[in-house]
Amino acid sequence: MSLQTNFLSILVLLAAVFASLHLINPNEQFLNIFKDFTITPFSSSSYSYACLQLPYICIFFRGHHHNHHHNKKHPDDDDSGNTGSICDDFPPGIPPPSTNTTSYLCVDQKGCCNFTTVQAAVNAVPDLSQKRTIIWINKGIYYEKVMVPRTKANITFQGQGYTSTAIAWNDTAKSANGTFYSGSVQVFASNFIAKNISFMNLAPMPSPGVEGAQAVAIRISGDQAEFKGCGFFGAQDTLHDDKGRHYFRDCYIQGSIDFIFGDGRSFYENCEIVSIANPVPQGYRSINGAVTAHGRVSMDDNTGFVFVNSTIGGSGRIWLGRAWRPYSRVVFVSTTMSDIIAPEGWNDFNDPSRDQTIFYGEYNCSGPGASMAMRAPYVQRLNDTQALPFLNITFIDGDQWLENYTQLIT
Ligand SMILES: *[C@@H]1O[C@H](CO)[C@@H](O)[C@H](O)[C@H]1NC(C)=O
Ligand SMILES: *[C@@H]1O[C@H](CO)[C@@H](O)[C@H](O)[C@H]1NC(C)=O
Ligand SMILES: *[C@@H]1O[C@H](CO)[C@@H](O)[C@H](O)[C@H]1NC(C)=O
Ligand SMILES: *[C@@H]1O[C@H](CO)[C@@H](O)[C@H](O)[C@H]1NC(C)=O
Ligand SMILES: *[C@@H]1O[C@H](CO)[C@@H](O)[C@H](O)[C@H]1NC(C)=O
Ligand SMILES: *[C@@H]1O[C@H](CO)[C@@H](O)[C@H](O)[C@H]1NC(C)=O
Ligand SMILES: *[C@@H]1O[C@H](CO)[C@@H](O)[C@H](O)[C@H]1NC(C)=O
Ligand SMILES: *[C@@H]1O[C@H](CO)[C@@H](O)[C@H](O)[C@H]1NC(C)=O
Ligand SMILES: *[C@@H]1O[C@H](CO)[C@@H](O)[C@H](O)[C@H]1NC(C)=O
Ligand SMILES: *[C@@H]1O[C@H](CO)[C@@H](O)[C@H](O)[C@H]1NC(C)=O
Ligand SMILES: *[C@@H]1O[C@H](CO)[C@@H](O)[C@H](O)[C@H]1NC(C)=O
Repeated sequence: MSLQTNFLSILVLLAAVFASLHLINPNEQFLNIFKDFTITPFSSSSYSYACLQLPYICIFFRGHHHNHHHNKKHPDDDDSGNTGSICDDFPPGIPPPSTNTTSYLCVDQKGCCNFTTVQAAVNAVPDLSQKRTIIWINKGIYYEKVMVPRTKANITFQGQGYTSTAIAWNDTAKSANGTFYSGSVQVFASNFIAKNISFMNLAPMPSPGVEGAQAVAIRISGDQAEFKGCGFFGAQDTLHDDKGRHYFRDCYIQGSIDFIFGDGRSFYENCEIVSIANPVPQGYRSINGAVTAHGRVSMDDNTGFVFVNSTIGGSGRIWLGRAWRPYSRVVFVSTTMSDIIAPEGWNDFNDPSRDQTIFYGEYNCSGPGASMAMRAPYVQRLNDTQALPFLNITFIDGDQWLENYTQLIT
């Protein structure tokens, strides 16, 4: 697919996202950005941009998509005899030479380095490598479905910023034969790291009552995965935190229903959690979303989602979590919650027998959504001792496997 058709298909997809959002949430400023984007893609430099969902996250596209003769893939592939190069501003020294502990690969949409797709770079990583492979990914939306198989451990995706580098696809539960297979990115390998990159599912936000519209941005099924400065964009079921120990720091996570779900054992630190559920008019008491749906199945499992020093905001009226499985376990520590959180806070999946087995805790949280006054009876207001297991990366044995863990104890 050429850069241009690629760009156009992204444009069409984004238009659909914008149109659906606009119907739900009219907003002047939002519309203006949409208009700028569709009518006059920013053309005064070599960048054009698209802004995705609320608040305005902009993804930058390099290249003159409106300007055919600049659209060749690589100087060496030039078939027109034109010597001007779109790779002139490509950073020097990328990829760095491989060392005896680390290999480097590079992905650029315009063909300025090793690969033009992320999947091609993943495929080039040797199976069962003990070395870490850092895949450097240049700015742009990579419109592809990416799979990191179990045999390819120790891969790092290094993006250029979560508002400028993204991997996006638009499968849904229906198109992929099940929610679990709908992820734009699916990671089955262990020791996966992602930095400064976004994972997006661009399928339209499900309308009420529509079946099979859930759409995962990323599924993380490998142990010891680490995400720093990453974005996760979707609506229902955005982040499938499936299984294994996972660490998220400084991440932006957007969704509507159950948008962080799975049976992972995960620690989220300094993350911004944003609901895009429809605004609920004053006077209505309906609930239209949930941040988490944790799936612990047994008392003996040590899985659970812990959030520390994070924020929850956005739109709708939502729960902090629903009991997707009977032993669902989620704790919020020192997290600021806006008034979109319903006063009862949590939901037992309409199965009162789960009230005895779920573990939903809150400790030292603040903001209008954090009031414990009307919380459901099974919710635990943790005291200092009870909160201890959930305050740091020891919850995920992070001291044993996190990169730069010593820098984290400050
Ligand atoms: C890796 O390379 C460094 C020098 O760059 C060398 O000191 C070290 O012994 C090498 N390790 C192995 C396992 O080859
Ligand atoms: C990637 O590009 C670098 C620099 O051109 C080169 O040294 C390296 O061999 C390439 N790697 C692969 C797997 O193509
Ligand atoms: C690579 O992965 C293996 C298996 O997951 C792990 O034991 C090893 O420590 C990893 N090596 C690096 C350099 O991350
Ligand atoms: C994904 O987007 C493409 C391009 O707009 C469209 O043809 C396709 O039907 C979409 N897939 C799904 C599952 O909606
Ligand atoms: C989904 O299942 C149908 C029927 O079994 C099959 O034809 C189709 O190829 C499957 N699609 C995917 C994406 O696996
Ligand atoms: C992410 O990007 C920011 C600035 O764009 C940079 O300061 C930071 O070091 C990067 N972090 C990672 C983990 O790559
Ligand atoms: C409680 O949260 C505040 C931020 O809202 C933080 O400054 C303080 O350190 C936290 N206290 C404890 C005991 O975690
Ligand atoms: C915390 O709660 C537990 C269980 O109710 C109790 O045993 C313990 O004494 C309490 N600790 C503090 C410091 O309040
Ligand atoms: C959370 O913030 C508090 C106050 O700034 C800090 O003391 C604590 O180390 C932070 N916890 C984590 C896990 O980052
Ligand atoms: C985490 O907290 C526990 C309980 O307070 C403490 O024993 C442990 O040393 C801390 N671990 C780290 C890595 O800070
Ligand atoms: C973190 O670890 C990586 C890889 O080992 C290293 O390149 C980087 O410099 C470290 N960062 C800090 C702040 O120590």
